[in-house]
Amino acid sequence: MKICVLPGDGIGPEIIEQAVRVLKALDLKLEMEEGLLGGCAIDAVKAPFPEATQKLAKDADAVLMGAVGGPAWDNNPRELRPERGLLRIRKDLELFANLRPAILYPELANASTLKPDVVAGLDILIVRELTGDVYFGQPRGIHVDPTSGERVGINTMIYAESEIRRIARVAFEAARKRNKRVCSIDKMNVLECTQLWRDVVIETASDYPDIELSHMLVDNAAMQLVKAPKQFDVLLTGNMFGDILSDEASMLTGSIGMLPSASLDENNKGLYEPSHGSAPDIAGQGLANPLATILSAAMMLRYTFEMEDQAVRIEDAVKKVLARGYRTVDIFEPGTQKVGTKAMGDAVLAALG
Ligand code: IPM
Ligand code: MG
Repeated sequence: MKICVLPGDGIGPEIIEQAVRVLKALDLKLEMEEGLLGGCAIDAVKAPFPEATQKLAKDADAVLMGAVGGPAWDNNPRELRPERGLLRIRKDLELFANLRPAILYPELANASTLKPDVVAGLDILIVRELTGDVYFGQPRGIHVDPTSGERVGINTMIYAESEIRRIARVAFEAARKRNKRVCSIDKMNVLECTQLWRDVVIETASDYPDIELSHMLVDNAAMQLVKAPKQFDVLLTGNMFGDILSDEASMLTGSIGMLPSASLDENNKGLYEPSHGSAPDIAGQGLANPLATILSAAMMLRYTFEMEDQAVRIEDAVKKVLARGYRTVDIFEPGTQKVGTKAMGDAVLAALG
């Protein structure tokens, strides 16, 4: 069981350190090796996803990642930006299935900006396609139109039916283990690409008669997510819509610092990372919440290594820590105990049992 560990930039190294401590404490004979991805890799070897990291990631069974990006690299040319490294590793490892749960822990009900009764008990799963769509479609670029002489920017929204079918299957399978409902998101009233999306999702659904399938236009879905989020079980989306809706969904829980994610290939090899970014504003200060990364490690044990009991062990420890009142600054409220990154890691280790 080989894990490639990519701490990345900003708060990445701090939160990864705590997740690695938790994994080591489980005593599971995991082999871990660190590599460079993102801004730190650009600084060290002038490439966001260096060859050495490509090899490490390919040879590993799973990748555990912190976060990439930061203001230092924002003005770099596109191929020398940290985000490029993330998009490349997703594409190279064919991690087409991105699972982003949004769960509201009862102890954190006040952390949401929405009324408690709207979000209490929230448990939704966004299944986002991750290697297609306008993110990777050709043609793309900015060029000067020869007739008008003005600049035009182009990206291409494109999905092959095989790409839609395989991500739809992931959503249906996931729904089977949950509340058996899938809501597929598209913009079929305007975009042909998403008309095909809807058609193929409906075709695929015939293999899953036990799952209730519904469809929603993306603008309405954005509205419904804040109006009545508990109507959803599994949300199935393309790459671009999923990017936007998953940020929105994360905020329903009030704390993006709590949410893990998994990006899986056909064989459940995966990249696991917190749903939040590199938070350069608090990097290096020991303030960051490591729980999303620790919960990402739990997802890794569940999906790639099929160790459900160990995954639950970590998740239970996180629940205990919240119940015991430990809070990093992002989820702090009066009456709880404010702790830093390492102390939060200590608390999880103590709660592992
Ligand atoms: C995400 C991020 C990435 C994306 C960026 C950093 C390229 O926003 O994982 O949601 O757009 O997919
Ligand atoms: Mg995003």
